[in-house]
Amino acid sequence: MTSESPSLTGTESLAPPPGCPAHGLGPAGPRRLYGPDADDLAGLYESLREEHGPVAPVLLHDDVPMWVVLGHAENLQLVRSPSQYTRDSRIWTPLKDGRVKPDHPLMPHIAWQPICSHAEGAEHERLRDAVTAAMATIDHRSVRRHIGRHTQALVNGFCERGRADLVSQFAEHLPMAVMCEILGMPEEYNDRMVQAARDALKGTETAIQSHTYVMDALSRLTTRRRTRPEDDFTSHLIGHPAGLTDDEVREHLRLVLFAAYEATANLLANALRMVLTEPGFRAQLNGGQMTVPEAIEQSLWDEPPFSTVFGYFAKQDTELGGRRIRKGDGLLFAPAPGNVDPRVRPDPSESMQGNRSHLAFGGGPHECPGQDIGRAIADVGVDALLTRLSDIQLDCAEEDLRWRSSIASRHLVALPVRFEPKPQQDVDLPPRAMPVPPQRSNWQVGALSSDPAPAPAVEPQPAAHQPSSAPDPAPAAFAPAPPRGLWQRLLRWWHGG
Ligand code: HEM
Repeated sequence: MTSESPSLTGTESLAPPPGCPAHGLGPAGPRRLYGPDADDLAGLYESLREEHGPVAPVLLHDDVPMWVVLGHAENLQLVRSPSQYTRDSRIWTPLKDGRVKPDHPLMPHIAWQPICSHAEGAEHERLRDAVTAAMATIDHRSVRRHIGRHTQALVNGFCERGRADLVSQFAEHLPMAVMCEILGMPEEYNDRMVQAARDALKGTETAIQSHTYVMDALSRLTTRRRTRPEDDFTSHLIGHPAGLTDDEVREHLRLVLFAAYEATANLLANALRMVLTEPGFRAQLNGGQMTVPEAIEQSLWDEPPFSTVFGYFAKQDTELGGRRIRKGDGLLFAPAPGNVDPRVRPDPSESMQGNRSHLAFGGGPHECPGQDIGRAIADVGVDALLTRLSDIQLDCAEEDLRWRSSIASRHLVALPVRFEPKPQQDVDLPPRAMPVPPQRSNWQVGALSSDPAPAPAVEPQPAAHQPSSAPDPAPAAFAPAPPRGLWQRLLRWWHGG
């Protein structure tokens, strides 16, 4: 069924007449996804759903018209219909007729690039095949080992202090460290690289400089592996029969690095925030009713790392969710409102345990090819961190947590935590729970003392990144020793066996 609503980007009434960009704003008209209206995007999406149903007209910066897809089924229909919708922005009417200015803030998402996420048909297949074939060569056991080692090293960096910011000291570092290993440039992972990626994505004044810093590293890697291939993602990408040029290799390394870094950093921060602020969650994890992978999956439902993906464009006149979509119209694929569509989740507070049909990884021909890696980083990282810092607590009032929001995603600015100081551990061994000293009488229930507690009576472990030759991974005396077989299995799992 097609409603009588006019086209968004055609010449009909929703298109604002010259001099009156706000025409049609307000209930039942398009709403702005920027400025003060967008302070609470989740609330805005719900108002739009009430006013328009599963597909709603909205305005991007400069009042450029767009559709936002709010329904779960409609989002899936959008991404799974390549004969009707493309990711190639060059057919977008407002771009073709000059309504989107070159300095539009969304230009980094809008501008077409020769990468698989903007390509379609045979060209998409050529580029995506090279990416997925190179990913298929990644040894998942060694990836889990890298994740474990880097998690141990990051926790070693703050465990003795008793407090940390899990966004800047953990969530933003772990995916970058692991991706540098996977791409074949572990030596490039450092604070500067994390800062450069963060800065480039934030679009700050130094964004261009930061972007150049990352691209220089990727160019050096491409040149090195072109002449001397090794067994890593980059060498397999270069060696794929699709015959990618150096530019194409660099652009796809950039795509993979940034997509993985941003999405996985968000996922880690969101999942840890849920564990720290939602008591039911923590209790279920501690009680064994929920596993860490299940907690991560719930987080992918509740706070998908990409709230929307810009964008899909209609190749012909068509219909979606009862709206008439005109050839050249733009549509935002929107996992955040799609995941809370009341038709699939009548009660959004209900657990989605066992159900993986969320939209966080997209779908159709462009579905995220890196989802297993993203999940592995989050699963292993969160599990190891919670094992080592079992008494971890939020170090501020929940209401004081701040987010930086854009149409594309919502980042937690900081996640301050406190715990009793703990000794470092060997990065090559599985994480071990450390003793939590008995609470002193003047400690408040549920809050941690501001005095550091005496160091637990366990032998100091080798510092971060120093592989230990000590063969004894036995847990400290305070923890019940796991049965022998279990410990062997745990060690095998940790080493990727
Ligand atoms: C939890 C983490 C992640 C989330 C939530 C996520 C989500 C997404 C989404 C929503 C898309 C767009 C789908 C569409 O256009 O319809 C996408 C595409 C993509 N992702 Fe991920 N991603 C994650 C991690 C990763 C990782 C770790 C990698 C690489 C190792 C990766 C590589 C890519 C690539 C190459 C594409 C483009 C695929 C194409 O257009 O054919 N992602 N991802």
